[in-house]
Amino acid sequence: MSERPAYDLDAVRRRIPLLATHVVMNACSQAPQSLAAREAAEAYLDSWARDGMDWDRWIAEVEAARAEFGALIGAEPADVAVATSVSQATAGVATGLDFTGRRYGIVVSGAEFPTVAHVWRAQERLGAEVWTIPVGEDGTIHFEDYDGAVNATTLVVSAAHGYYQNGWKQDIASLAALVHERGALLYVDAYQTLGTEPFDAPSSGADFVASGTLKFLMGMPGIAFVWVRPGAADALHPTATGWFGRRDPFAFDAHLDWADGARRLDTGTPPILEAYVARAGIAWLRELGLEQVAAWTRALAARLVEGGRAMGLETMGPTAPGAKAPTTAFRCADSHGVEVALRARGVLASARGPAIRLAPHFYNTTEDVDRALDALAEIQEAARR
Ligand SMILES: Cc1ncc(COP(=O)(O)O)c(C=O)c1O
Repeated sequence: MSERPAYDLDAVRRRIPLLATHVVMNACSQAPQSLAAREAAEAYLDSWARDGMDWDRWIAEVEAARAEFGALIGAEPADVAVATSVSQATAGVATGLDFTGRRYGIVVSGAEFPTVAHVWRAQERLGAEVWTIPVGEDGTIHFEDYDGAVNATTLVVSAAHGYYQNGWKQDIASLAALVHERGALLYVDAYQTLGTEPFDAPSSGADFVASGTLKFLMGMPGIAFVWVRPGAADALHPTATGWFGRRDPFAFDAHLDWADGARRLDTGTPPILEAYVARAGIAWLRELGLEQVAAWTRALAARLVEGGRAMGLETMGPTAPGAKAPTTAFRCADSHGVEVALRARGVLASARGPAIRLAPHFYNTTEDVDRALDALAEIQEAARR
């Protein structure tokens, strides 16, 4: 395994102050603050303090963030909507669909972050019927289960790209082929994979791709994006809407039209400070190169899995680097207690259900991985005694 990534790791690490004091391995939950993010937030705060208001410039920043997210996934800005969370982005799509016709079924993967499943379930009041595809004992969904569930009544299938519990990646291309062959749409929540590897939305097969920015995209809460396949947006008439989803938000009349393209999923006043920060995080990753980031995070993830096994730690779910995001789940009886104990040792990790998740990102070193594993093994050993 290469001991260094293709980019200047020391220079990268100097841009993340938290790395001076912590082993940061919780990007699957919240990325650390970078100087780029801080400078971006300060640019907004300075503008607000200095100018009072500068809507032209602030809205231009929102547009720049929209374009940056689009560039990350190989898409045009016109095909990207700006939301405040993945929940809201999903609600825009969900309430834009019509479940009263021949197609009323929603097939939801058991690997969805619960909020996405909640939004789909809420559509049952409007005529939808939800089928959930369970996650198997092995921590994955068996493809044949989709085959059995997607039929002529299915309107949309919702499948996260990366499973938040263990990082396992669903095969979006194969799923898209199946879903489209049956005449349905495919909604993909890529929050747990974007920023860890290249992802091209137009060629992925998905009809919708959503993500927030506070995980591997190095951003903060309060902003999310959803890409809509060109041409697919015009069939959506979201009831979760607002003035920024209109053709001309500044017409200041109450006439309800829908903007062309993905913009019709925009809602109220956009998250401006968050847009500044989101652009900075995504731009940094694009500058480093997503191929390079993927190569390094896979190398670190492989070291994490092998090292953990050698120490007797039990992994959960698939562990082959290409089969999952950099996140690895280790089983532990009291995951929250382990998260707290790791934090006390200077290691930031993230508990989810029966697992503690360690998620190396582009700024981590091999020493980080080894230190995190040593700390985890020590805590688990102490718990057994
Ligand atoms: C895959 C995934 N989707 C969605 C969310 C949450 O979305 P939001 O809080 O932006 O609605 C999370 C975690 O917070 C997640 O891991």
